[in-house]
Amino acid sequence: MLEKNLERLRQKQESAFEGGGKSRIEKQHQKGKLTARERIHFLLDEGSFEEIGMLVTHRTTDFGMDKQIFLGDGVVTGYGTIGGRLVYVFAQDFTVFGGSLSETHAEKICKIMDLAMQNGAPVIGLNDSGGARIQEGVRSLGGYADIFLRNTLASGVIPQISAIMGPCAGGAVYSPAITDFILMVQDTSYMFVTGPNVVKTVTNEEVTSEELGGASAHSTKSGVTHLTAANDIDCIQKIKRLLSYMPQNCEEKPQSVPYEKGDEYREQLSGIIPESSNQPYEMRDVIEGIVDEDSFFEIHPDYAENIVVGFARIAGRSIGIVANQPMNMAGVLDVNSSKKGARFVRFCDCFNIPLLVLVDVPGFLPGTDQEWNAIITNGAKLLYAFSEATVPRVTLITRKAYGGAYDVMNSKHIGADMNFAWPSAEIAVMGAKGASEIIFRKEIKAADDPAAKLSEKEVEYADKFAHPYRAAARGFIDEVIEPRESRRKLIRAFSMLENKVAKLPKKKHGNMPL
Ligand code: HXC
Repeated sequence: MLEKNLERLRQKQESAFEGGGKSRIEKQHQKGKLTARERIHFLLDEGSFEEIGMLVTHRTTDFGMDKQIFLGDGVVTGYGTIGGRLVYVFAQDFTVFGGSLSETHAEKICKIMDLAMQNGAPVIGLNDSGGARIQEGVRSLGGYADIFLRNTLASGVIPQISAIMGPCAGGAVYSPAITDFILMVQDTSYMFVTGPNVVKTVTNEEVTSEELGGASAHSTKSGVTHLTAANDIDCIQKIKRLLSYMPQNCEEKPQSVPYEKGDEYREQLSGIIPESSNQPYEMRDVIEGIVDEDSFFEIHPDYAENIVVGFARIAGRSIGIVANQPMNMAGVLDVNSSKKGARFVRFCDCFNIPLLVLVDVPGFLPGTDQEWNAIITNGAKLLYAFSEATVPRVTLITRKAYGGAYDVMNSKHIGADMNFAWPSAEIAVMGAKGASEIIFRKEIKAADDPAAKLSEKEVEYADKFAHPYRAAARGFIDEVIEPRESRRKLIRAFSMLENKVAKLPKKKHGNMPL
């Protein structure tokens, strides 16, 4: 009976495809896209995929839909393994009604999300869809909301990764937006709440889909996407790498990779800080000098480049890194870098990934643009995220740590466990010039040579504060270390903190400054 039904459905499916299913697959390939099944094939360990709901079909009879029945209803769902680890996956099939989301399509996604939650394993969504199934009306909108609710409930329980590998428009964007990471494929994917036609009607702006919501726009301007990929295969490889730093769920720790202890001194770290404290240097060189070889995986590399965030390993253990970037706007904190940093810190804290914070920050960016775009609220996000994080937290100040930004960047005062500084660290309320101009104003004004007086006072102020020893004397810095011994010290610190237990006060949830 089952076989008969299946055969009947297959026949319907073939006849419903004008020109046959093959041509639709070819169309997908011509666009430079893989099909849903090909994507799953490359994502999961060979032979590990178990499909769930292959025979599900939609229930719509309007608009002649009863004559267009497709097995699976435009989404392939199931589970399998990546590197031996259980994951749940759904892949929207653009060859069936443009991957549009029907009531049953949504039910299939919800089913695997429920299983993922109950069994504590990540969910990976491969999105390629024309949005709500237009023929179904409110039932498909309801299906989206069912998914949004699950995304929210799963947040912080299991990692959720969204790859955008085709269209993702309208309210559909809000499912990926709630998940932990979004990857977009260059040239073949786009995301927007309202497309170019509506934009033209409402604002009279002329913009292409790519300009409005392509991978480049979202990786550089909006920051919606965390990673971009050159093509589908690159995207799948990046998903696998991303996943390798995470645990299965919030109750577990990330898996360590084997590590052979060697010479932990890194001489290259000694030559990084320039002579002049106003000269930039590449913070990624510091990161590379500290972490295990080739282990740094940067997140959000093209957005808010004045802060660098990403995963790495130190002595085989997964860590998250947040670092000011002196190469970009002198590493200043602004609205976008605060949001970027805060989101990353929150992810690491959800999933037991210890944090390493590298500090070289001249302060918060001044200006009307920043104030009117709420640097107060947004800067507070980063402050809140660090303050609330209970994972092991280690800070290394490489150079400047000025003003409020000193407090915010994982200072001892907001709960960091171990705080190190290089001898080149400068920890003060502000830079020597600005400070001298304020506190010695009268003296400078009264001097015969005000410029010479200012220089003299700058030196006096710098002698007092442009070093880490006052902070160390108060215990705000645990140890002043030579750059070359940083890796060794940090390996030991993270090892010492491995079993850290810290509890937050009992509450329903905090009210972070969103
Ligand atoms: C039903 C759809 C569909 C949809 C595409 N198709 N989108 N069927 N519902 N939403 C069908 C097409 O009719 C076509 O069927 C096939 O999928 C492939 O579509 P094409 O248009 O030929 O492909 P392409 O040229 O690549 O264009 C892709 C597209 C376009 C840009 C996505 O199809 C499009 O604009 N679709 C409508 C998008 C949309 O407005 N969706 C609703 C958004 S509102 P045939 O049989 O002809 O091959 C929304 C609200 C969600 O989603 C709210 C959640 C809270």
